[in-house]
Amino acid sequence: MRVFVTRRLPGGALDRLSAEHEVEVWPEPLPPPRDELLTRMPELDGLLSLLTDRVDAELIEAAPRLRAISNYAVGVDNIDIEAASARGIPVGNTPGVLTDTTADLAVALMLGIGRRLVDGDAYVRRGEWRTWEPELLLGHDLHEATVGILGFGRIGQAVARRLEGFECTVLHTSRSGGVSFEELLERSDFVSVHTPLTNDTRGLIGEEALRRMKQSAYLVNTARGPVVDTDALTAALQAGEIAGAALDVTDPEPLPADHPLLDAPKLLVLPHLGSATHATRERMADMAVDNLLAGLRGERMPHQVN
Ligand code: DGY
Repeated sequence: MRVFVTRRLPGGALDRLSAEHEVEVWPEPLPPPRDELLTRMPELDGLLSLLTDRVDAELIEAAPRLRAISNYAVGVDNIDIEAASARGIPVGNTPGVLTDTTADLAVALMLGIGRRLVDGDAYVRRGEWRTWEPELLLGHDLHEATVGILGFGRIGQAVARRLEGFECTVLHTSRSGGVSFEELLERSDFVSVHTPLTNDTRGLIGEEALRRMKQSAYLVNTARGPVVDTDALTAALQAGEIAGAALDVTDPEPLPADHPLLDAPKLLVLPHLGSATHATRERMADMAVDNLLAGLRGERMPHQVN
């Protein structure tokens, strides 16, 4: 069967795919442009997509032979699941394998923004470090802090487990319990976002939510950029309404170099590296290929979302 893979993947997983199917891998470092994707769709039986590919109803409709979509991510907000399901096309994702890696990064961001790691590094490189000083680059402790985890799924819970070691008070929101959204915002020293992007969570951290946070609190986002309203966050940082933000994900993504958010103070920003370790990205590739192989065989995918 004919399969299109929208980017090269680490490890040997794609060799297993090529052993069974006719595979084309998009060779460029940037995602295939929309028209490239659209021209390929009519011939495709399988698609291995990335979170940077918008697999919407139009794209799915352009692929009458399509039998399986496998997303190289746990998040599937880039895919119109309803449109795929309406055609009986299974959609796979890569849950579990990236949980700990992403949780590690969330904690790293809390420490990074709270303890001013980037400020310190830049200070040394600028040649400004003259001596040890009692008040040089003072930050805030993560240990014994109150950390609010918004979205208590696999990754949120993995973050909470790590924070036990820091003797934090962990608050969380979830369908089955925890505290209210408002209480979490009002009490937390760090608010860490772990919700998927849905219609309900888009813009969840907007002007009002930011205003509810303590002025001394930090916002951390390793989930999806649009859960946070970028303009509201830019304004809150500029006005000093919160102590800072550490973002692994942004809206838009990537952020253009001249984006106003990048001029805001107390901001640490990364290029969506939550799952970016050699081992995890290889495991994700294995899972994505296993999902696609099963879907093309007409079997249920090991990790199918619909
Ligand atoms: C995901 O899988 O959804 C992450 O954002 C990238 O690994």
